[in-house]
Amino acid sequence: MSPYRRITKAVIPAAGLGTRFLPATKASPKEMLPLVDKPIIQYVVEEAVAAGITEIIIVTGRGKRAIEDHFDAAIELEQLLKASGKIRLLEELQRVTRLANICYVRQPSPKGLGNAILCAEPFLSDEPFAVLLGDDVIAQTPVPAIAQLIRVYERFGRSVVAVQPVPRKEVHRYGIIKGRMTEHDLYEVSTLVEKPAPSQAPSRLGVVGRYVLSPSIFTWLRTLQPGHGGEIQLTDALRQCAMTEGLFGWKLTGQRYDAGDKLGFLKATVELGLKHPELGRAFRRFLKRLPSAALG
Ligand code: G1P
Repeated sequence: MSPYRRITKAVIPAAGLGTRFLPATKASPKEMLPLVDKPIIQYVVEEAVAAGITEIIIVTGRGKRAIEDHFDAAIELEQLLKASGKIRLLEELQRVTRLANICYVRQPSPKGLGNAILCAEPFLSDEPFAVLLGDDVIAQTPVPAIAQLIRVYERFGRSVVAVQPVPRKEVHRYGIIKGRMTEHDLYEVSTLVEKPAPSQAPSRLGVVGRYVLSPSIFTWLRTLQPGHGGEIQLTDALRQCAMTEGLFGWKLTGQRYDAGDKLGFLKATVELGLKHPELGRAFRRFLKRLPSAALG
């Protein structure tokens, strides 16, 4: 038994404007883009639930109503499915509405990830919590990604961020840590920088969208000045955390897809399509038979 408080709540920031995926995201939230047959955010919610999370706070913004509708009951649709004998589909829809106790809070204006997390503070009562970014999908995990971080928290009672090596030319897309490996896959973080130029990056270990945070993160978030890109950056609060309470970086096992990016989304679609219980075989056959002309 861990001496530290159990992690039962998660925050999923999903207020971003989705500009990297325009025009698809002009009128629909990027988190609702379907990966095979489920919206991106459902994979994220299911990962949290598989890790023992029971309460989820989704931070939304303008134009994100479809997310709430997706996790809510759709009585007319359910009655229709029942009447037409589509019981498996009906059960699947009902399963989605029962995944967790989900509540929503709106971020009034897009002031950055740090500000989005701050919007969830009233729903958390001085307890550690998980954060899962709404467009990061992590597949091929022996243990759900956020559960890997929760295990670290349960051992040390200290905040922890997920990291993975990123190519040098992509460090400007991530928070990058400076850390000392204390045991296999575990780093003691001394500092971190948001989206540095390659020449300024303290390492090539980039923060990917999973965190377990101690509630003191709010103290730092509340006093932060805008950082990179003029936004309130979670990375800046995490730097304070590293310098005072201490912060771990856990090298995540799994394949991470940035599904909010067009190419990342395509890659995730192929992997999840191949794994799909009903479509996988036919999809694999299709890919194998693709004429080499199509592959260039
Ligand atoms: C955010 C964080 C960044 C992190 C990244 C992971 O950036 O600010 O530190 O590395 O998520 O996806 P965003 O991708 O929202 O710009």
